[in-house]
Amino acid sequence: MHFVKGLLNVLVLQPLLLQLCSSLDTIKFVQPVRDGDFLVSKNETFVLGFFRPKISTNRYVGIWYKFSEDMVVWVANRDNPINSSSGVLSIGSDGNLVLQVNTSQGLLPLWSTNVSISSASNDKIFAQILDSGNLVLAQQGSQDVFWQSTDHPTNILLQNIKMGGIHRFLTSWNSENDPGTGNVSLRIDPNGSPQMILYNIEAKLWRSGQWNEIKWSGTPAAQPKDVFKINFVNNKDEITYQWTVLDPSVHSVYIIDGSRTFKLLVWQGQKHQWDLLWLAPLDACDSYGKWGKFGNCNPTINGFNCTCYPGYEPISPQDWDLKDGRGGCKRQQGSRSMCRNGDGFVKMENVKVPDTSSIKLEKNLSLEACKDECLKNCTCLAYAIEDVTNRGTGCMTWYKDLMDTKQLTEGGQDLYVRADAVVLAQYKNKSGGGYFSRKRRLAIILVVSISVASLLILAVLCWFRKMSMKGRGGQPKFLNDPAAPGVRSYEDLPIKDEVDEHRGETDLPLFDLTTVGCLAHGQEIAVKRLSRNSRQGIDEFKNEVMLIAKLQHRNVVRLLGFCIHKEERMLIYEYMPNRSLDLWIFRKNGNSLLDWRKRFQIIIGIARGLLYLHQDSRLKIIHRDLKASNVLLDGSMNPKISDFGIARMFGDDQIEANTNKVVGTYGYMSPEYAMNGLYSTKSDVFSFGVLALEIISGRKNSFQFENSSLNLVGIVNMGLVDRRKSLEHN
Ligand SMILES: *[C@@H]1O[C@H](CO)[C@@H](O)[C@H](O)[C@H]1NC(C)=O
Ligand SMILES: *[C@@H]1O[C@H](CO)[C@@H](O)[C@H](O)[C@H]1NC(C)=O
Ligand SMILES: *[C@@H]1O[C@H](CO)[C@@H](O)[C@H](O)[C@H]1NC(C)=O
Ligand SMILES: *[C@@H]1O[C@H](CO)[C@@H](O)[C@H](O)[C@H]1NC(C)=O
Ligand SMILES: *[C@@H]1O[C@H](CO)[C@@H](O)[C@H](O)[C@H]1NC(C)=O
Ligand SMILES: *[C@@H]1O[C@H](CO)[C@@H](O)[C@H](O)[C@H]1NC(C)=O
Ligand SMILES: *[C@@H]1O[C@H](CO)[C@@H](O)[C@H](O)[C@H]1NC(C)=O
Ligand SMILES: *[C@@H]1O[C@H](CO)[C@@H](O)[C@H](O)[C@H]1NC(C)=O
Ligand SMILES: *[C@@H]1O[C@H](CO)[C@@H](O)[C@H](O)[C@H]1NC(C)=O
Repeated sequence: MHFVKGLLNVLVLQPLLLQLCSSLDTIKFVQPVRDGDFLVSKNETFVLGFFRPKISTNRYVGIWYKFSEDMVVWVANRDNPINSSSGVLSIGSDGNLVLQVNTSQGLLPLWSTNVSISSASNDKIFAQILDSGNLVLAQQGSQDVFWQSTDHPTNILLQNIKMGGIHRFLTSWNSENDPGTGNVSLRIDPNGSPQMILYNIEAKLWRSGQWNEIKWSGTPAAQPKDVFKINFVNNKDEITYQWTVLDPSVHSVYIIDGSRTFKLLVWQGQKHQWDLLWLAPLDACDSYGKWGKFGNCNPTINGFNCTCYPGYEPISPQDWDLKDGRGGCKRQQGSRSMCRNGDGFVKMENVKVPDTSSIKLEKNLSLEACKDECLKNCTCLAYAIEDVTNRGTGCMTWYKDLMDTKQLTEGGQDLYVRADAVVLAQYKNKSGGGYFSRKRRLAIILVVSISVASLLILAVLCWFRKMSMKGRGGQPKFLNDPAAPGVRSYEDLPIKDEVDEHRGETDLPLFDLTTVGCLAHGQEIAVKRLSRNSRQGIDEFKNEVMLIAKLQHRNVVRLLGFCIHKEERMLIYEYMPNRSLDLWIFRKNGNSLLDWRKRFQIIIGIARGLLYLHQDSRLKIIHRDLKASNVLLDGSMNPKISDFGIARMFGDDQIEANTNKVVGTYGYMSPEYAMNGLYSTKSDVFSFGVLALEIISGRKNSFQFENSSLNLVGIVNMGLVDRRKSLEHN
């Protein structure tokens, strides 16, 4: 919205500024506010006045942010617009704040605070706009507030303002240019265990889930305690929700906007805009009732997300096939009675528990007591805990159709669903109490049988290969690079076979792609992903798997496993929280981060790792690419040599090798390797020397062939020459 500004600026704002300076924030009996006048709160955060939406001729009395006129936080006459600029806001003779229009027929009332004020004489009554954004009607010399705008919010919930109760709910604007009462509202539903519910007229669009003493249970993440302060009161006098951002300089609002969503916005002063922090509904699974009763919506399943509760099946399989889940689910055909007949509960883990508005709530019961409570009443269909703090208290039991369950990936709760003895047995032995619809069960059976079949085929293939190799003398392929005797190469073998063949030898687990996404125990890992279709990458991959799998040393990074999936190739390493050495030594101000003792320990560690590679391990390995970025640091800053992509294995008695493919990093390469392709353990020692200089000096050894005085090695060299000269002189 823009306000009639061009003219106003010139004609009105000039005299108004004088008023602002005297910080006018109150309306008194003798001092009405006319269209064009503004009241400004003490610290100049909020403004009250007349405004006109961008595309509209109607005028309204509203409150907005002084720094962001478009953010109108409250509107008085939202359903009674003024069609001229002759509105007057004043204290009426009955003490109420009234909005009138000055017409030729006199003053016509449009809006009033409409409270009964008995005791006061109206020249003592005033209306004041506060720094909180609240407009209050009060009496001088008294604490009583007769009326306040925050008890009648429009579409915005400001910080530190209570929501809940009969009038204190949010309603959308009709449209962007019409603040009239819209169809979408956000209310606290006090029934059962209270929830915030977003309605379109009376139809539920979204619900927050019950307040579980940490957060609204259906929202994935709690608002962090160090940023937000939340106050949810639930007692017999009131059920209210109040929030604020702890940092008083942050301006933030909850708003229902035209898109039927409920949003949390925060003001970005520098960018001069409101940024979105959070919104609901978040995804398709957040829409209320999209999958009917006893249905669960799982946003991690692509496509059709509806599943039925354990022991339930779609009411209309046809609709289900047409990807319409609204019909919901019913008990499976031929189910057994669930009344003292060996029935029990199946746990649905990590869900947004169903609508709590028609539950029975018993505040003080524990989870165990809640189970008994539900079990003993045969109409009880499910139970869950209301308050998740202190190991869980508050027993919520459901008796009617359970609506609006969503599978969450984090921050959900456990729902215990009543199931008959047969279903119970099906789920009993499943680890984690997982539950599957019939379709998924079928899918799992399929996947399992396919994998078993392919394993068999693979085994047969491997057996044939072994047999054929025996025919060739039983030797694995070796030494087909004549220039590099003893260097293993696997050029013409399909990689999968190769890796399989050597798995027995390496004991290295082969992960599948989904496991890489989610490793057991939430173990942190580092993944090196090779670019697709790169032949070079594949060779390096093979090389790295072969070599590093056989190495184990505290200064050599450990490979946990690898993953091959179509074109995707990944190496899975232990996770190194301190990342790579170059980030520490070349960083500006980095000197202060690493003291001498640490640096020395790092150099020693690298030396140990290198010694291991060169002579102490089972193999003799030339790394060929030792540099700062290939040294990783673990939690206690122990260095670990990584990246064996171009490393080479030497025979025991082999001293050096030659290659016409010089790979590595200039700046760390020994001259004979860089120029003649000759490499040996000495090349690594050269690189180690450069690295040691870098660690000591904190400077990068830039690569300069022509002018070696500019690089680190050159400088050190010159220093040595100078020193020798001076020694000779003396
Ligand atoms: C403006 O509103 C008044 C009453 O509120 C009405 O009588 C009048 O016809 C309106 N004028 C226009 C141009 O809509
Ligand atoms: C209404 O308008 C008339 C004529 O424009 C003016 O004299 C009068 O003061 C106005 N009344 C108020 C309350 O503003
Ligand atoms: C004022 O409130 C009374 C009841 O308190 C109601 O009957 C009346 O319609 C209200 N008037 C307006 C203009 O809202
Ligand atoms: C509100 O709902 C009514 C009745 O369904 C409809 O006619 C009207 O267009 C809706 N208003 C908005 C702004 O969607
Ligand atoms: C004005 O006061 C409000 C409420 O006390 C506070 O949140 C806000 O930061 C203040 N604004 C300024 C500019 O001081
Ligand atoms: C299933 O979930 C995904 C991800 O949330 C969503 O994009 C898709 O529209 C959903 N499908 C249905 C039918 O709700
Ligand atoms: C629940 O327990 C608390 C303290 O243990 C007690 O004060 C409260 O009255 C109990 N409420 C009910 C409904 O039993
Ligand atoms: C079971 O619970 C329902 C709902 O609370 C109640 O109406 C019914 O009386 C209970 N039945 C028994 C046997 O307790
Ligand atoms: C569950 O597992 C136990 C032991 O593993 C086994 O004895 C029992 O038969 C299993 N029950 C079902 C229903 O599979």
